[in-house]
Amino acid sequence: MALREIITLPDPVLRRKAKPITKFDRELQILIDDMIDTMRDAPGVGLAAPQINILQQLAVIEYAEGENEDEDEEGAEAEPKPKKLFVIINPEIVKASEEKIMGIEGCLSIPGLIGEVERYEAIQVKALNRYGKPVKLKVDGWIARIFQHEIDHLNGVLFTDLATEVWKPKDEEETPLD
Ligand code: NI
Repeated sequence: MALREIITLPDPVLRRKAKPITKFDRELQILIDDMIDTMRDAPGVGLAAPQINILQQLAVIEYAEGENEDEDEEGAEAEPKPKKLFVIINPEIVKASEEKIMGIEGCLSIPGLIGEVERYEAIQVKALNRYGKPVKLKVDGWIARIFQHEIDHLNGVLFTDLATEVWKPKDEEETPLD
């Protein structure tokens, strides 16, 4: 396994559309494992293949619900649930909630900027897993936000295109990057 270099703006590759994956060979398995390592090393909560200069429809996501929720009802820090890892190939959003929510996003490919972005609260995604098997995933909350951010990357769309406002984070402002 190896770390791959994450490209950043203004690299034009980030603006291109990724191609569907058709070969589920050993080379793809190595790429997926490298992407998981690269995401964890960054650290980030998601990484799309175009961010490592590979224009293929592949993204990895790893997030523990509760990580970004400030407090529970008692006012105590929410205890994060175990991390969930997703590998999605050729993903497609097939259903989305009517409800949309605002949240603050950052991106490993846009260092030093965060912004407020409206996303669907819940989505259903059709994709292939790392072995080429079709899967249907129902996700909501922050994981749904990360999925939408990664699927945008596969279409050359960045959060700054959708943000109502972007700014340089202050020291105390921490947001997961993907
Ligand atoms: Ni990103």
